[in-house]
Amino acid sequence: MAWLERLVRKALADVEPYRPGKPISDVQRELGLREIVRLCSNENPWPIPEAVSTAIQSAAKEVNRYPDPGAYYLKRALARKWGVSPSEIIVGAGTEGVVYALFQAIIDEGDHVVHCMPTYPLHILAAKAAGATCVAVPLTDSFTPTADMIIAACSERTKVVIMCNPNNPTGTIMSRSELLSLAAHLEGMQTLLVVDEAYAEYVIDPRYVSGVELFRQLGNIVILRTFSKIYGLAALRIGYGIAPKPVVESFSKVKRFFEVNKIAQHAAVAALEQTAYIEEIRDRTLIEREKMLSVLSDLGVKVYPTHTNFLLLRVEDADLVAEDLLREGIIVRPGSDMGMQGFLRVSIGLPEENERFAASLRKVMKRAGRR
Ligand SMILES: Cc1ncc(COP(=O)(O)O)c(C=O)c1O
Repeated sequence: MAWLERLVRKALADVEPYRPGKPISDVQRELGLREIVRLCSNENPWPIPEAVSTAIQSAAKEVNRYPDPGAYYLKRALARKWGVSPSEIIVGAGTEGVVYALFQAIIDEGDHVVHCMPTYPLHILAAKAAGATCVAVPLTDSFTPTADMIIAACSERTKVVIMCNPNNPTGTIMSRSELLSLAAHLEGMQTLLVVDEAYAEYVIDPRYVSGVELFRQLGNIVILRTFSKIYGLAALRIGYGIAPKPVVESFSKVKRFFEVNKIAQHAAVAALEQTAYIEEIRDRTLIEREKMLSVLSDLGVKVYPTHTNFLLLRVEDADLVAEDLLREGIIVRPGSDMGMQGFLRVSIGLPEENERFAASLRKVMKRAGRR
């Protein structure tokens, strides 16, 4: 029925659906394997703290009642953490939920959204879903975005610049001075800067600054954060943003009312208190990252400097290597999923998972005469 094909939104005709990392159960079913190592979605692989587990179990006893749509306790806890007002906080089902509603709240037909390329594909999808025209800023070989490059792509039609800092899938950061100059320039253009800081807790480089610091100085910044990474709550789907009040007000008109479930809210409040756990996970991740870097250097694989819990590897026939690794029970992310042919993105896993990855990669490379 051709009319049904004509009925759907024309603006979505060229939109490629998001390709997420493969779930463990799919690989088990499709390849008949039992032991799977999942290094494709940059999750925290360590168990969550006992106190968070307890909060989840106690909230699970109350699932007959709707969750608090205003996320009162979570917003207050976040406001305390960041020194902002609860009325400057937005919450959603992961960064994903926040970013989709955020774009719906601010994009008008014909608005441009500027983003780096490569970047986290869901930013582009969310912008297009809201009806924006996306303008890509291609990153140079070092994958480090600069304020000048981004500003050059902006015009009077640019309503929003969105970037990840650190960036996914490159692991690179924009320095404090660059971010400040970008934000200040965009404020002069009356353009909003959205900074997705999903991996901020892993960064130890002193040149890095969170957009929250700039939020207090400038009026045009939205910061996105998630509980899916270092906090270890990816399956609960909870994230948040810090945003200027007019943005929060518009957001509240389009956000799905009961989007953030009760278990997620309680878990997030408990997780925010676990500062020692967060530091421990960061330290363990950095130790494992060093080990992975040394193994990959022995294998002669080019790896890009990273500030996150994942590595970007230059591998000529990356798609084939990813498939071969999959047959070994190791799930990594082919760069082609993110518009980067010839690259693999590999998350830092548990020590034993990283060892299995290294052994399988060695085997796969040797077998195919890649080394
Ligand atoms: C840049 C970036 N933002 C956000 C997320 C997490 O999204 P969510 O909070 O929806 O789980 C990811 C996950 O891969 C990411 O890479």
